Amino acid sequence: MDIKNNISLKPFNTFGIDVSAKEFVSVDSVKDLTAVLNTNPSNLMVLGGGSNMLLTKDIDALVVHINLKGISVITTSEDHVQIQVSAGENWHELVNWCLNENFGGLENLSLIPGNVGTAPIQNIGAYGVELKDSFISCEAINIQTKMLKTFTKDECNFGYRNSVFKQELKGQYIITSVVFELTRMNHKIKTNYGAIEAELKNSEIENPTIQEVSKAVIAIRNSKLPDPKVIGNSGSFFKNPVISNSKFEVLKTQFPEVPHYKISKNTIKIPAGWLIDTAGFKGKTFGDFGVHAKQALVLVNYGNASGKDILSLSKQIQKAIKFIFDIDLETEVNIL
Ligand code: EPU
Repeated sequence: MDIKNNISLKPFNTFGIDVSAKEFVSVDSVKDLTAVLNTNPSNLMVLGGGSNMLLTKDIDALVVHINLKGISVITTSEDHVQIQVSAGENWHELVNWCLNENFGGLENLSLIPGNVGTAPIQNIGAYGVELKDSFISCEAINIQTKMLKTFTKDECNFGYRNSVFKQELKGQYIITSVVFELTRMNHKIKTNYGAIEAELKNSEIENPTIQEVSKAVIAIRNSKLPDPKVIGNSGSFFKNPVISNSKFEVLKTQFPEVPHYKISKNTIKIPAGWLIDTAGFKGKTFGDFGVHAKQALVLVNYGNASGKDILSLSKQIQKAIKFIFDIDLETEVNIL
């Protein structure tokens, strides 16, 4: 176990924020992870791909970087396959691995930053597909008892960008591997969400393969979302707010063009990107940080912004959205 002191976390978070960890250890096996937990650190921070966090201060804790690797096929039938994937595998590399094997189910989730082990925590989703659609189970270690437990899909209690690991069990478990069930034939192609259909039409593709769907998703994402390797960001900074029908009726009288999606009989989801755009923040730059010019939902670090800079911008946005639309915007990223 190689515990290092005062390590910069800049390479470990996609926002590229330079804060330091008091102690840092990278683990590449469950055995090593258990050994680290057995030292009973008083303060612990678990780090996966660092793609859904905003670091606003130095971390006065032992940061454990989950670097468990491996993908294996566990069962195969004529039309399905189950694979077990270690938590430290990069999400998009997993999607590419599946596409090479011609395993279907994750193609709409192409290019989402982050690692496999953190994907279930917020039930990552894009273009009409969520992680939960292919999820079978995950294995996780209890930080207190150091016992491994398998969580079924029901036990994970997945919701929109939500799961039991963000709610009742927050901070109690570290996911070590995830089992997915994917299709080997008769892939369920989903192209009716967002701009996928238009993108495929552009390329004159009528019956797309899963590889072609992935290519379309990548093209759409690249046209709107900044590549964290080039411009620091954490994807959607805010969740899309869900409001009541009555509130929506009021909003519509003032903003008849407001985009919206019916969620239930009484609730409607409004795209946070539209709210922030309409409030005039899109493309606004304040020195080294700002709101992305092509997607107002994404806050960006152009160089050496601090987490505090970005946090204060996010608060300014929340205040403006409350003032203009009377809507509370919740952050999607974890603020640390
Ligand atoms: N819009 C604007 N201005 C903007 C951005 C969006 O007016 O600057 C409008 C668009 O015109 C559109 C609507 O808002 O009518 C929705 O925007 P978009 O289709 O870009 O997607 P989204 O609902 O804002 C969600 C996810 C993304 C995911 C996309 C595609 C959330 C918070 N975000 O965005 O997830 O990629 O759908 O499925 O649910 C992420 O989580 O990091 C992420 C990028």
